Amino acid sequence: MSYVEVTYPADKPAFYRLLEQQMQLYLAAAPDPVSALANAAAVLSAAFADINWAGFYLVRGGRLVLGPFQGKPAVMEIRSGQGVCGTAWREKQAQIVRDVHCFPGHIACDCSSSSELVVPVFDANGNVLGLIDIDSAAPGRFDDADALGLSAVADILAAFM
Ligand code: SME
Repeated sequence: MSYVEVTYPADKPAFYRLLEQQMQLYLAAAPDPVSALANAAAVLSAAFADINWAGFYLVRGGRLVLGPFQGKPAVMEIRSGQGVCGTAWREKQAQIVRDVHCFPGHIACDCSSSSELVVPVFDANGNVLGLIDIDSAAPGRFDDADALGLSAVADILAAFM
């Protein structure tokens, strides 16, 4: 398979429709969940403008562990309730953080990050399997439309977490 460059529209519903299609395309016939999530991180990174980190945390053994990502090296283990990711996991709720410096307990992996979006990935019973995490150096980069769009992507990724 070779990657074909696509141009993502600015309109958010259209952006997320194309992102879902790209996910389906590059995750099809993945030989292993790691392969699927590695490609998923690459698809996220290619799709979003103005981001500096995109990847996954996976629920393993009662904590979150770092999964495939694109960006600078990051914290490898996060406890429930800790930072933005641990809060999304505990609350079972997307976290849209306009200014990470104002989020109590925020874990800084890349000091250039200003805003962050974390979206849980659920199984069919509503248990959290893992998280999608995207960071941006731009303040207020993410909004409700991004959380909604990424929750549809999360449903695609659930099979690989
Ligand atoms: N900022 C996250 C930690 C993960 S990094 O952003 C990649 C947090 O506070 O949970």
